[in-house]
Amino acid sequence: MTRRATITGWGKCVPPVSLSNADLERLMDTSDEWIVERTGIRNRQLTHVETTDMAELAARRALACAGLEATDLDLVVIATCTPELLCPSVAAMVQDRIGATNAAAFDLNAACSGFVYGTSVVAGMVESGFAERVLLVGAEKLHYAMDYRDRGTAILFGDGAGAAVFEPSTDGDGVLAVDLGADGGKGGTMLIRSMGSQGEPSPANDPEAFRLHFEGQAVFKIAVQGISASAARVLERAGLTADDVDLVVPHQANARIIDSATRRLGIEGERVFVNIDGLGNTAAASIPMAISDALDAGRISTGDTVVLTAFGGGVTWGSIALQWGARTEPVGVHDGELPPTDMDCFDLLQDNLDFYAGLHADEPPVA
Ligand SMILES: CC(C)(COP(=O)(O)OP(=O)(O)OC[C@H]1O[C@@H](n2cnc3c(N)ncnc32)[C@H](O)[C@@H]1OP(=O)(O)O)[C@@H](O)C(=O)NCCC(=O)NCCS
Repeated sequence: MTRRATITGWGKCVPPVSLSNADLERLMDTSDEWIVERTGIRNRQLTHVETTDMAELAARRALACAGLEATDLDLVVIATCTPELLCPSVAAMVQDRIGATNAAAFDLNAACSGFVYGTSVVAGMVESGFAERVLLVGAEKLHYAMDYRDRGTAILFGDGAGAAVFEPSTDGDGVLAVDLGADGGKGGTMLIRSMGSQGEPSPANDPEAFRLHFEGQAVFKIAVQGISASAARVLERAGLTADDVDLVVPHQANARIIDSATRRLGIEGERVFVNIDGLGNTAAASIPMAISDALDAGRISTGDTVVLTAFGGGVTWGSIALQWGARTEPVGVHDGELPPTDMDCFDLLQDNLDFYAGLHADEPPVA
């Protein structure tokens, strides 16, 4: 039987600081009603620590779930567009912290498509026999690049991390097919010019260049088209049809994008997993966090056909068709937590608000 890469462990890190739509109403001219209707988002969780800290915790949880030691790993890959530093990579720092002394490590940036791109890379490594046990993490600290008076962008994004362990299987389960694509010519629709989430906004940076630049409507259209076409291609490559799919786990960009894209595919309702209401768009972290939540909710069973599909900055897109393997319950649990904080979202965002204040000097104060 063909050797495939199958997911044997999963875990997530949801940071502790909540940013609700009611909180956003205090920061910008918006409303809970508008945000829920246009995006499906009610809340986001923000981090008081670095991308690496969230990635490490999600990684430890995924390893415990798989019943593996860090020394069992031969590769650590972190998908992120908000690394703590450019060099060393987040993956190298996580490799050191968890003690994965036998593993290679690198970061991969395909923005919101990062976990799908990462899955294709690690699946290829495992299938070919170049790697046996691989840890893939999607981790993002997106709030550092947000101007919380820009209502067209800041309402959408949250922070977090999700992880998966991949191991070989010859039982028919694992990654069945991959579809990846990019259109760099449209890269200007989603831009973060500055790098390194450790370098929080500081007077040395130009606010206009630093904040996320985002063309919401253009992205919306490209995303619906990109996701539905890519998912259709991956199904064809796997020799499957929409009827064969038990669950689609899409990148959680916007509930309306997910609805439109999956309706085009002919897959709706209970066969689509959505958790955007509580977490917002967490870029590369959204799919692995959604996989964890779907398993916790009993929405994935052994033998299920699962499709992962994403769209993001670059622009990039991609889809994975996989058959879920034997494990649907964790072997073990890692009970570590992030360090506690008593900050609320307004404390956490004060630096951002101060940094971008100059861009909004002529605007009336928020009521
Ligand atoms: C950003 C997004 C939610 C905006 O929704 P939209 O329906 O396209 O809204 P528009 O930009 O057309 O704006 C419509 C109106 O609402 C206003 N508006 C925009 N954001 C608002 C907000 N947060 N609250 C209230 N009103 C808002 C606009 O100013 C505009 O008002 P006007 O008609 O008086 O000019 C939507 O375009 C989107 O989700 N895009 C893709 C997002 C995404 O997830 N991308 C990442 C992919 S990885």
